Amino acid sequence: MYAYTKSRYIMALDCGTTSVRAVIVDEYGCIVAQASRPVKAIYPQPGWVEQDPTEILASQIAVMMEVQFKSGIHSDSIAAIGITNQRETTVVWDRDSGQPIYNAIGWQCRRTAPHAEALAQNGYADMIRAKTGLMPDAYFSATKIAWILDNVSGARELAEAGQLMFGTIDTWLIYNLTGGMVFATDYTNASRTMLFNIHTLDWDDELLELLGIPRCMLPEPRWSSGEFGRVSGEIMTHMPLITGVAGDQQASLFGHCCFEPGEAKNTYGTGCFMLMNTGDTVVESQNGLVATVGIAEGGTVSYALEGSIFHAGSVIQWLRDKLRIISSASETAEIARSLPDNGGCYLVPAFSGLGAPWWDAGAGGLIYGLTSASDRATIVRAACESMAFQSFDVLRSMEADAGCTLDSLSVDGGASRNDFIMQFQADILGIPVVQTEAVETTALGAAYLAGLAVGYWEDREEIRQNRDVACRFEPGMDAEERARELAGWHDAVSRARSQR
Ligand code: G3P
Repeated sequence: MYAYTKSRYIMALDCGTTSVRAVIVDEYGCIVAQASRPVKAIYPQPGWVEQDPTEILASQIAVMMEVQFKSGIHSDSIAAIGITNQRETTVVWDRDSGQPIYNAIGWQCRRTAPHAEALAQNGYADMIRAKTGLMPDAYFSATKIAWILDNVSGARELAEAGQLMFGTIDTWLIYNLTGGMVFATDYTNASRTMLFNIHTLDWDDELLELLGIPRCMLPEPRWSSGEFGRVSGEIMTHMPLITGVAGDQQASLFGHCCFEPGEAKNTYGTGCFMLMNTGDTVVESQNGLVATVGIAEGGTVSYALEGSIFHAGSVIQWLRDKLRIISSASETAEIARSLPDNGGCYLVPAFSGLGAPWWDAGAGGLIYGLTSASDRATIVRAACESMAFQSFDVLRSMEADAGCTLDSLSVDGGASRNDFIMQFQADILGIPVVQTEAVETTALGAAYLAGLAVGYWEDREEIRQNRDVACRFEPGMDAEERARELAGWHDAVSRARSQR
């Protein structure tokens, strides 16, 4: 254990899908400074999503510099660094040059859907689920790595010769921030690759063989809280240690202090991800959810049930950037509220097929129920409501799998600050929705994991004391109306499905 005085801070890096940020956190869990930058998505073909790994890295380093500059808190005052990241997104790079051999293939990318489908059709789904907690789907990293090895000229030979390295975004950052000294990931990120056995906490040889991925290209999986390596002196003069790493949804679970079985959170980011802590039990979902490593801190693993919704905040972004019917996300609550109700119009954002609980790669996005009275507000409202409806479907699956009912739902992420969406969420769920004081729960979770490793916080109890409720939305919709709304939504979903 290292002895740090609390005049120091923790820096957390949150490398998300649409933006990267760096935040500085004090002992009370308050974010005292932050800097962020957008990162671009590349859409080479319909359904394909890529990002430039060198842009992600450069932007991440730039915000690390900027937050120090803005706050006057420099690397000599940073007790430790935590990293959290968009999960599943796949980078493969050359061991000698450090250069990616292809763009990062994004988690939303559907190019490998036929490969995932073939795995299921060839009878591997049960084996994959038993080992990884996941079902074969293009969402996870495994088929993305295989695609790069099969489609980039010479890649397979190089991989077999030990010349290529694979990483999710955490590994890509750790490798580069440590000047190429550390090639590692954490158990939560590893659990999203579909190559990691969540029971043995190691890469699984049978899966590696099935997918044709050489083990030598995989990083070392480690606990989320512990020493990962020092940031190189070229990036931060005093070379702070990286001591916390977790996938963004697991970091947010930790940031929400969902330490006990049955505790759950919902994060509204680019997608929307609900996770429930299931303790030391891996719950095999019968209702379209996945099991994953939830918390890997303190020498024990807590598993989680996860409902992964592919499009949430990205729908609002689509209204802004593609339809151009809003100029900023902050307008949406007022526009949605300008209507007394949705007028029977529903938007199903199956832009990359549908994730949980439907897992329908062939589903297509739709807006259903338009009339000649429909206008911009109708579409904005339907887009806002789609997040709440999708979360309803996931929560019901979660309760059925876990055999318990939630008495409230803790939320974070961008849309958790949209009062219209949160009130509608409470109405549709019929339970209170609890907004925590910290919007950046993901970054906070990474900071906590890093801080615990160096004794900045003593234990989880000390962390729990930092948790403050900002607002509680009570359900106000009567049962009949709720049932009518849900019937309208499910009718629209069935029309979006590839097989009805
Ligand atoms: O699994 C994908 C997830 O980690 C992406 O999170 O916050 O970028 O929607 P976010």
